[in-house]
Amino acid sequence: MIEDVLQVVEQSPRIVSLGVFLSLSVLYYFLFASKSKPLDVPSYDGNVTPYGVEFLSTIEKASAEHPDSIFRLNTANYDTLVLPPKYIDEVKAAPEAKFSIGAELYTRNLGRYTLIGTVGRAHGFVNSIRQDLNRNLALTFPTLQAETEYATGTSIGDCPEWKPIAVYSAALRMVALLTGRVFIGPQLSRNEEWIGASIQTTVDTFSGSFKLWNYHWSIRPIMARLLPEIQNIHKQNKRVAELLEPVLAERLRQMSQPDFKPPADMLQFFLDNLDGKDATYQAALQSAINVAAIHTTSMNITHVIYDLAANPEHIEPLRAELEEVISMNGGVWDKNSIIKLRKMDSFIRESQRMSPPGIVSMSRRVQQDVVLSDGTKLPKGTLVACDSWSATRDSNLWENPEVFDGFRFEKLRAIPGNEAKYQFVTSSPINMHFGHGSHACPGRFFVANEIKILMAHLIQNYDIALKPGCERPQSMYNNIMILPNMEGEVLFRSRR
Ligand code: HEM
Repeated sequence: MIEDVLQVVEQSPRIVSLGVFLSLSVLYYFLFASKSKPLDVPSYDGNVTPYGVEFLSTIEKASAEHPDSIFRLNTANYDTLVLPPKYIDEVKAAPEAKFSIGAELYTRNLGRYTLIGTVGRAHGFVNSIRQDLNRNLALTFPTLQAETEYATGTSIGDCPEWKPIAVYSAALRMVALLTGRVFIGPQLSRNEEWIGASIQTTVDTFSGSFKLWNYHWSIRPIMARLLPEIQNIHKQNKRVAELLEPVLAERLRQMSQPDFKPPADMLQFFLDNLDGKDATYQAALQSAINVAAIHTTSMNITHVIYDLAANPEHIEPLRAELEEVISMNGGVWDKNSIIKLRKMDSFIRESQRMSPPGIVSMSRRVQQDVVLSDGTKLPKGTLVACDSWSATRDSNLWENPEVFDGFRFEKLRAIPGNEAKYQFVTSSPINMHFGHGSHACPGRFFVANEIKILMAHLIQNYDIALKPGCERPQSMYNNIMILPNMEGEVLFRSRR
C-alpha cells in the first residue's frame, strides 16, 4: 500500500505537488508568508531549449534594456535579481550576515538534501584552501607534474595515428587524478572507486537538486528519500568514508609521532584546521571539495582543448614559449617557469572569456532587508547575482570581442603598467568567472597551475586537431550555466 502511494508520488510529481500545495497553502500563508514585499522590477523568462531553459540571450536583452538597474531572471529553481555593475563593490565587500554565498548555495541547491553549503561552509574549510593550499602551491607543483604522465597516459594514451578523444570524459578523469593526488595522496587517488565517487558525487548533487525542485517543498523530504541521485550522494559518502578510514587512521598515527612532517595535502589541511577527526566527517569534507573542484576545472580544460583544436595557429607559438622558458631555466620545467608562460596564461583566460562557466557571478542570498547606497531596498531571502556575461562581449573593453584571440591578454600585458593585470587568476568587475571580492574562488591559483601543467604536457606530447569537416563543439546553455559540449571529440596524435 505504502509502495503504491510512493509510486504515484514518484510518477505524478506535479499533480501530487499541486494537491499538497493547495491544502497547505492557507496554513503556509498564515505561518510563513514573507513580511518583506518582493522588489518590483522588470522580470524576464529564459528560452526553452532541448536542454531546458537558457538565459544567455535573455540576459543580453535584459542588460541592454536595463544597463544600470536591477531586473529579475525567472530561473528554473529560484528567481534571481541581477544587479548592474554599479552595485558590485557593495556586494563584494559585504559580510555573510548581509549577502551570503553559503546560504545562496544551500538555498539554490537544496543543501538540506544534497548537502551543498553544509560542511564546506565551515570557516576552516575555506581557509584550508585560501591559506594552506595556496601557501604550499610550490610543493604541489612536482606532485601535479608527476601525476600528469599517468593521468594523460590512462586518459588519452599513445596515439601513433590521429585518434578521436571524448574530451570532457578525458578531462574529468585527468582532473580527478591530478586533484586527488594533491587532495588525498597516492594511496587513494588512483583507486578507481575513489575516482568514480569524486566525479559522480557532483553529478548526483546537481541533478538531484534539479529534480527535487520539481516537487513542492512540503513533499521534498519524502522525495529526497526516493530519488536515486540523493540516495547515491549518501551511499557514496559512506563508501568514501570506508575507503578513507585506513588512510586517516595511519595519518593520525603518524601525527602522534614526534618526528612527524606534515604532507602538503588537503587531508592534512583539513585535520589541522577543523575539529572533526572521524572518517565520516573527513569524507564529507573530501566530497565537498571535489564538488567545488572537479567539474569546474574539467569544464575549463575541455574549453581550452576545444579552443586549441579550433585555433591551431596558436599551438606552435605556445610550444615555442614553453621551450624558451624551460631552456632559460636551465632545461628544468618547474614552478619558476610557470609564471613566465604569458602566452599560455593569455590563451586560458581568452578561452574562459569566450566560454565562462555562467552568465552571472557573485550569487548571494540577502540575509536581512538591505538598503543599497542609492536607497534601493532588497528584501530578506532574495537571491541576487551580478551580470558577468556582458563584460565578456563588451566592445568598449575588447577589440573584436566575438573573435577568439588567444594572445589578446599577452598583448595587453605587454603595455607598460599592465604587467600584473589581465592574468587568468585576476578577478575584477570585468572578469568575474572566479567570482570577485572576499569570496573570490580560493582554488583559482591551484587551478591555474594544474591547467598549465596539463596543457604543457599535452602540447609537448600531442598534436591536436578538430575532426575533419567538424567545427568546435558548441557549448550548451542551461539555466544560468554555460557548459562545454560533453560529447565533443577532438583528434590527438602522439608527437615523436
Ligand atoms: C576552473 C575551475 C574553477 C572555477 C571556474 C571556480 C569558480 C568559482 C566561483 C565562481 C566561485 C564563487 C565566488 C563568488 O561568488 O564570489 C568559487 C568559489 C569557491 N571555489 Fe572555486 N572554481 C574553480 C575551482 C576550484 C577549486 C579547484 C577549488 C578547491 C581547491 C575551489 C574552491 C572554491 C571554494 C571553497 C569557494 C568558496 C569560497 C568562499 O566561500 O569564500 N574552486 N569558485
